[in-house]
Amino acid sequence: MSDVSVPPIDRHDDPTPDRLTVPPTGSSDVDSAALRINGERLTRRLSELGEVGGLEGGGCARLALTDADRDGRDLVITWMTELGLDLITDTVGNVTATLAGRENLAPVMMGSHIDTVQTGGIYDGNLGVLAGLEVIETVMRSGFVPRRPMAVAFFTDEEGARFAPDMLGSLVYVGAMSAEEAHDIVSIDGARLGDELERIGYLGSSPCPGLVPHAFIELHIEQGPVLEREGRDIGVVTGVQGISWQRLVITGQSAHAGTTPMELRHDPAYVASEIAVFVRRLAEELGSPQVGTVGTFDLHPNLINVVPASVTMTVDLRNTNEETLKQAEARLVKFCDEVMESEGVTIEATSLARFEPVDFHPEVIDRVEDEAKGQGLSTRRMPSGAGHDAQMLARVSRAGMIFVPSVEGISHNINEFTKASDNENGANVLLQVVLDLAEEKP
Ligand code: GLV
Ligand code: MN
Ligand code: MN
Repeated sequence: MSDVSVPPIDRHDDPTPDRLTVPPTGSSDVDSAALRINGERLTRRLSELGEVGGLEGGGCARLALTDADRDGRDLVITWMTELGLDLITDTVGNVTATLAGRENLAPVMMGSHIDTVQTGGIYDGNLGVLAGLEVIETVMRSGFVPRRPMAVAFFTDEEGARFAPDMLGSLVYVGAMSAEEAHDIVSIDGARLGDELERIGYLGSSPCPGLVPHAFIELHIEQGPVLEREGRDIGVVTGVQGISWQRLVITGQSAHAGTTPMELRHDPAYVASEIAVFVRRLAEELGSPQVGTVGTFDLHPNLINVVPASVTMTVDLRNTNEETLKQAEARLVKFCDEVMESEGVTIEATSLARFEPVDFHPEVIDRVEDEAKGQGLSTRRMPSGAGHDAQMLARVSRAGMIFVPSVEGISHNINEFTKASDNENGANVLLQVVLDLAEEKP
């Protein structure tokens, strides 16, 4: 049922090359509560996928719908195909692989993303997808057939670094944006999303919104310092903070750097710098958990002896509290008005992403916590600072997340690292939570 061309299955050097088939029935003699994932296999797949678009010094660059993203997708699909899973690709390029259950019910879904930022690590997103695959392979190899189907998905363009907004594929999956609207989004390099999907062979035909899962669980690295600092094994994620992304285009007057008196300038670089400093101070003043980032700064014409004609910059504001986030946005608007007036420039603001804070489902939160504790792991309840596909799935389904520690809290950086034992812990919690949910009756 795959809509994409599938590479040959022997591309991956599996030490256990026997092809798996799902036992038709009969699972009563398997103690599913005793199942454990294969940590070595998970680690091996993480590094193999990390080599696709690999960067010197570590990490990888697989911006959404680039050739490198296609190669990463092809590799993951090879593994999914080896397991004989039922594959579908939808009209925005999300790929879902499903293992049939004993009954034809809504599946328990896992997943995340495999696109990365341009200087990304090998764990962000990839862990959730490959751990989902590992959970399914573990279940298949045991001979246990869960009541409900189990699915693992990778969603298109979670990062939003090439095509805004972030979590785009999962946003379309849940029907909050149409595939047609998504196809018309233009990337930072001028490409149209629909054209890029087609170019890399991932414009599927399965319709969006997609099948509503029985529940959705995403394993992810924390990407922050909290778990490591507190020596906890597992983050029980309670929700995701609100995100506000804006692009500001500041237009002034290009002029000679040597001859134009300071009082006659309309300098967009000066204004952009003032805004960057304001964003930092605003976050400090509002206090944690408010954060504010100026991540891009593009001067035109970008020459040493020319007062720029224009600057394009982005502002990323986030907070777990919607009211404070709105306040931060309003204060930024006010500051832009003031500085625009005083320097005699224009500022055009475009919203690139705006998502309110999300709470995960209390039952899923409790299950993750109970399961982790039951496995002898230490836990901490925490909100997520980063955006995740699970926050979109939470609009239609019970959803939750499991975090594992990030060494030194580093992420969106080639030095991103999570210990293999932590990934294994997280995947084992995922396995048992999913097995549990998959036995639920309609
Ligand atoms: C996505 O990874 C984001 O939180 O920026
Ligand atoms: Mn991620
Ligand atoms: Mn990310």
